[in-house]
Amino acid sequence: MSPVRPLASRPHASRPLAAILFLVSLSLAACGKSEAPDGGGAEATGAPAAVVTDVQKAALLADMPEPYRSADLAKGKALYAMCGSCHTYVKGGGNMTGPNLWGTVGAKAGHVAGFNYSDGLKASGLVWDLATLDKWIENPRGLVEGTKMSYIGMKAPEDRVALIAWLKVNTSPAN
Ligand code: HEC
Repeated sequence: MSPVRPLASRPHASRPLAAILFLVSLSLAACGKSEAPDGGGAEATGAPAAVVTDVQKAALLADMPEPYRSADLAKGKALYAMCGSCHTYVKGGGNMTGPNLWGTVGAKAGHVAGFNYSDGLKASGLVWDLATLDKWIENPRGLVEGTKMSYIGMKAPEDRVALIAWLKVNTSPAN
C-alpha cells in the first residue's frame, strides 16, 4: 500500500475509496444478517410459530363435515376471545390457566404433557372430536364432573359451530 497522500494530488482517489466504503457497508450488512434468527430459529427458542398458511386453512375447512365446512371463521375468531384469556392456541404456545390448544381437535382429553389437569378430565376417556367439543363448549361442567375449566358455556349452537371450525383450522398440524 502506498502512503496516503492528500486527495487533491490523486485525481482518481475517490474511486477506490468509494469501493472500500461499499465493501465495508456490505460486510456490515452481512454481519447484521448472521445475527438475526433464521427460519428454524423460532422453534429452537421456544417462541410461538404461526405455521398454518391460508391455503392449508382452506383445505382443513374443506375436510370438515357440514355445518362446520360453511362456518363463519371471522365469527369463530371473535368468539375465541372468550377462550383466549385462559388458553393459547399456536404451536409452542405456553399453558396459562388452561392448557395450550394446539393439536387439540381430534386428540385425547388431557394430551398436553405437564399441564395439571383435573382428575375428572384425566379420567374422562374423552376424545375431542367435533361432537364432543360441541358438548364441552356448551357446558364444560355438564360433560366432565369436577373440571377445572370455569367457563360458563356457549349457548347458541351456531356460535359453537363457528368457534369449533375456527379452532380446527387454526390449531391443526397441516396435512
Ligand atoms: C377461565 C379459564 C378458561 C376459559 C375462559 C376457557 N378455558 Fe378451556 N380450559 C381451562 C382449564 C383450567 C382446562 C383444564 C380443565 C381440567 O383439567 O379439568 C381447560 C381445558 C380445555 C380443553 C381440554 C384440553 C385438553 O387438553 O384436554 C379444551 C378443548 C378447552 N379448554 C377449550 C376451551 C374453549 C374453546 C374455550 C372458549 C369457549 C375455553 N376453553 C375457555 C380454562 C379455561
